[in-house]
Amino acid sequence: MSANRFLIEGLGGKKTLKGSIPVFGEKNTALPLMAAASLIQGESKFTNVPHIADVASMGRLLEGLGAFVTHTGTELTISAKDLTGTVLNQDLAKSMRASVLLTGPILARRGAVTFPHPGGCVLGSRPIDIFVTGFQKLGATISEENEEFYTLSAPNGLSGGEIFFRAVSVTATETFLIAATLAKAPVTLRNAAMEPGIVATAEFLQSCGAHIEGAGTPTIVIHPSTLTASSAAFPVVPDRIEAGSFLILGALAGEKITVTGVNPKHMDALLESFATMGVPISIAGDSITVSAPEKLLPIEIRTHEYPGFPTDLQAPMAVLLTQAEGESVIFETIFDGRLNYTAELVRMGADIKVWNPHRAEIKGSKSLKARDIDGPDIRAGLAFILAAAIADGTSHVGNAHLVDRGYESIEKRLQAVGLSISRN
Ligand code: EPU
Repeated sequence: MSANRFLIEGLGGKKTLKGSIPVFGEKNTALPLMAAASLIQGESKFTNVPHIADVASMGRLLEGLGAFVTHTGTELTISAKDLTGTVLNQDLAKSMRASVLLTGPILARRGAVTFPHPGGCVLGSRPIDIFVTGFQKLGATISEENEEFYTLSAPNGLSGGEIFFRAVSVTATETFLIAATLAKAPVTLRNAAMEPGIVATAEFLQSCGAHIEGAGTPTIVIHPSTLTASSAAFPVVPDRIEAGSFLILGALAGEKITVTGVNPKHMDALLESFATMGVPISIAGDSITVSAPEKLLPIEIRTHEYPGFPTDLQAPMAVLLTQAEGESVIFETIFDGRLNYTAELVRMGADIKVWNPHRAEIKGSKSLKARDIDGPDIRAGLAFILAAAIADGTSHVGNAHLVDRGYESIEKRLQAVGLSISRN
């Protein structure tokens, strides 16, 4: 078994990485697509599906409910004809917040679903009140057992209605988008999230016969429909967070790095920040080429729901800001525990002051020194790999299993552009 940490030889400020890095399918699109497939009484096929731990966990959750799942090459097949279970496997559901995506389709299809409070990355409090209120609006009742398990029931099916989300939530939007296709009357979702994964999930459901209007806008209307399996395989959109992380590596240490298989239209927030910071890029079709500039300018980053600056790129961006000359500011507006990782960057030599759970100031540029650090979640783990890549000396980045939840063969892809990274 390979070690649960990465060994990275830092470049010590040299900007020598070159070559191309392919981007794979987006984790946060593959997961809702898999949840949507649980509604279909036949076989669903997806292409460009990454081999990452979260996709495997979602597959095992579906298998636990009676579905058949195969993942060969980049093609994932889900046959949910015999899906009869109503209880989500506790360990799997607790290991991944996205397990909550299955509550909607299982409730809509089976009339009941039992699940533990979903776990996942420690990013601060991650309540499920928006889900519970929404299901109640559609006529479901909820009961709680030992504060451990929730059971939602709607034995006669979900009713129609309007749900206004008090906060914009990606997985809640997806959960209700999927579940509402089986409701007895139209469902309107207001203040909905607009991430590419939501549009893709709607398009997949439409390919199976769903009537959905407005996906990709704050108001989505889902009309009752009969779903049948589509014969065409549905492609997962490129992972914009993965693409962004690789572009940031290029801005830090690239002589010239080309990130391939990207949808540049999904990258506006990061590319706009690059323009302000003086990072040169060029776009050709689905490739973006980036080089590290002589001098990086400071910037203010405010995380926001799509199409704003993604919270999932906030930690990688913070590493870039340690190299900008002057004072940068990060406002993390989505989560209240997503600046904790900065303490490790400070140990590496960064000058970062966290004023409160939502605001950090970064003064640069500071050379980073190699350290042994443990990534606390998927995205901060990747950020630590970037920090170690530019540091002076050899670092260990622990909790590789968290990085594996979101990035397939990360070390192989980074080796290909000249970074010395292995598992050790
Ligand atoms: N929220 C509530 N109540 C709820 C649901 C959400 O208060 O019932 C709050 C959250 O606490 C947060 C805000 O609403 O403050 C937005 O959270 P959201 O529900 O949008 O997050 P999520 O759906 O759980 C998805 C991604 C995350 C990404 C966020 C924000 C998936 C599977 N996960 O999470 O991705 O950070 O949206 O864009 O799509 C990751 O991939 O590493 C990751 C954490």
